[in-house]
Amino acid sequence: MSGRKHICAALVVLLAGCSGQQAALDAAGDQAATIGDLWTLMLWVCGFMYLLVLIFLAHAIWRARHALDAEPLTHGSGSRAEHPLRMALGGWVGLIVVGLFVLSLATFFIDRSLAQARTDDALKIKVTAAQWWWKVEYEGMAPDQRVVTANELRLPVGQPALLELHAEDVIHSLWIPNLGGKEDLIPGRINSLLLTPRREGEYRGQCAEFCGLQHAKMALDATVMNPDAFTRWRQQQLTPAPAPSTPEQIRGHEIFMSGPCAACHQIAGTPASGQTGPNLTHLASRRTIAAGARPYSFEDLRDWLRDPQSVKPGNHMPVVQLSDSDLNALTAYLDSLK
Ligand code: CUA
Repeated sequence: MSGRKHICAALVVLLAGCSGQQAALDAAGDQAATIGDLWTLMLWVCGFMYLLVLIFLAHAIWRARHALDAEPLTHGSGSRAEHPLRMALGGWVGLIVVGLFVLSLATFFIDRSLAQARTDDALKIKVTAAQWWWKVEYEGMAPDQRVVTANELRLPVGQPALLELHAEDVIHSLWIPNLGGKEDLIPGRINSLLLTPRREGEYRGQCAEFCGLQHAKMALDATVMNPDAFTRWRQQQLTPAPAPSTPEQIRGHEIFMSGPCAACHQIAGTPASGQTGPNLTHLASRRTIAAGARPYSFEDLRDWLRDPQSVKPGNHMPVVQLSDSDLNALTAYLDSLK
């Protein structure tokens, strides 16, 4: 590879981090934009300092070479020669103090502005982290208006959303880089995170605190939608699961309800009311399974049901031994939960 190609390849890698579904520099919300401004300020201040260090270094090397060429260095040269050096060092120290002061002040005010943002009209959402998935609950005006889903967060564009953060087992951290900063989810403690999305789109959140074997496969599928689409989605989520309609789905429904599945998962409108695992009422309307471990598809779902441990080793879903036809029936039933 030629030198120019190397530089191009390096630039592609560097700039790839600036946009995309999981990019802090591609702000799609107020909080991410504010934090991005702070990042840009830090980049300029630190970049300027770094440039100065390089200039001084180059100057020092150049001077030393010239001094060596002219005559050997002599020790104990007069204080007159040291005077400009002292001035330069004094200026350098002053510059560092000013730079650090500017950064500290900017950090303080941006942190305060994020903490004091108005939350009166915010959409209230409870997010609970567990090894290794996210439970997402939208509080309604009445208990029957409460929407429960898993591993997906839907937000209407332009409206602040106040996430109430809980953890079930260990410390996790929620980070949707396009929308805002990180916040820890700590057992026995309630934290909050305000997100005000400004651009519709699909984004990827990720657990940002090491929380065990499958920490890396603990993603949150975040979608910012227009308010009408969000209302429709919310209404659709409130409906109970559709009843099985084909003989295969009916067989799958029986397997689910009579096996261990119903003890851990809830499907609204059926006897299944387990709370240990994700709510599956509208499983087939999600884009991923197992917290982003696989994209959603019939085949991926069947792989997951056949052996969850091979897809996501260490997760808490046990292997349920099923014949191939039972496995297909169970998958067909779950795939009907749109
Ligand atoms: Cu949850 Cu890392």
